[in-house]
Amino acid sequence: MGAAVEKMNRDAIARRFVLAPMDGMSRASFRSVCFDYGADGATTEMIQSLAYGRAKKRMSAAFEETLTRYPNERWLAAQLIGSDPVAMAESARRLTALNRFDAIDINMGCPARKVVGSGNGSALLKDPGRALAVMEAVRAATLLPVQLKLRLGWDAAHITAPQLARAAEQLGFSAVTVHGRTREQMYGGQVDAGAIRAVCEATALPVYANGGVACARDALRFLRDTGAAGVAIGRAALKQPWIFEDIRCLERGETPRVRRAPERIALLTRLAALACGHRPEKVAVSEMRKFCGWMLPGFSGAEDVLRRLNGVDTLDGFNRLMDDYLDRLARQNDLDPHSELAPTQTLDTVRGR
Ligand SMILES: Cc1cc2nc3c(=O)[nH]c(=O)nc-3n(C[C@H](O)[C@H](O)[C@H](O)COP(=O)(O)O)c2cc1C
Repeated sequence: MGAAVEKMNRDAIARRFVLAPMDGMSRASFRSVCFDYGADGATTEMIQSLAYGRAKKRMSAAFEETLTRYPNERWLAAQLIGSDPVAMAESARRLTALNRFDAIDINMGCPARKVVGSGNGSALLKDPGRALAVMEAVRAATLLPVQLKLRLGWDAAHITAPQLARAAEQLGFSAVTVHGRTREQMYGGQVDAGAIRAVCEATALPVYANGGVACARDALRFLRDTGAAGVAIGRAALKQPWIFEDIRCLERGETPRVRRAPERIALLTRLAALACGHRPEKVAVSEMRKFCGWMLPGFSGAEDVLRRLNGVDTLDGFNRLMDDYLDRLARQNDLDPHSELAPTQTLDTVRGR
């Protein structure tokens, strides 16, 4: 194993549990909350190379929050999606010039019909020639570490991840994140830990296992079952951004604490305030409905609060609603979540696009 690869492996050991890129979610405000809870790293939501490479201003409004980096974001990769090597290289150069990111990540996993239809995301899994051209172009365009995020392959009959991971290693990439499903599986079906293990065995690069982690215990089990260097957590973090702290607790042999109403409501109001710094207040507040819908069920009266949230479109209104709710729960001495009140939530209730 070369010295450079050994060093990358050492760095990755220090960075084990990271936030996965999620379009519309892995923006600075939410990422920052995850870092508060001990995430080792994060990747931005995907940035369309065609749009970004051609953006008139260095940082157009559409990318403002994605490309913001808060001081507590201890390790951050910017993710590009695209299949035109020239546009990908141009975007990689622009991102590098911002002097703000620790790595550039290439998306070869997005399964959305529209994305795949134009040859991007997981479509590259079945077009190794183009995948290689994109990887080479990005590698040549930046001095930053470059990493790859991909699925196992297009379908069960075409598992290309080991081959692409080896190509990434040969090109001098720094890491590979593998979602243990094929494109055909979209976001359902069994995640194949054994197939991720096969990718780990095919390359000396640090591999991040991804897919299907629902709680802290799952993350540790997944790490063991795949033999990966780390785990990238997506949807579970949307509902439990504290999952990163819970993992550390379990590793120390401690029981993670219950996240009571004051903590969750403080988190939600902080997230809303951060998001309002980047997007029109009305838009940012309406997006908080999703996070409230993920973090409040299980508390008495949560359905009523979620209903009332539909009529709120200012940060003041949002904060008042949250404060009143917390007061009510405190007066009733009812600050703990009741598992019997929480609707059965599976990861699939947060659909991938
Ligand atoms: C809403 C949503 C948006 C996503 N956007 C991206 C993206 O921009 N780039 C990417 O590589 N993967 C994206 N993904 C895939 C996730 O990074 C991850 O691979 C997938 O959700 C499986 O991990 P999980 O089970 O931990 O969520 C997205 C997933 C979801 C649910």
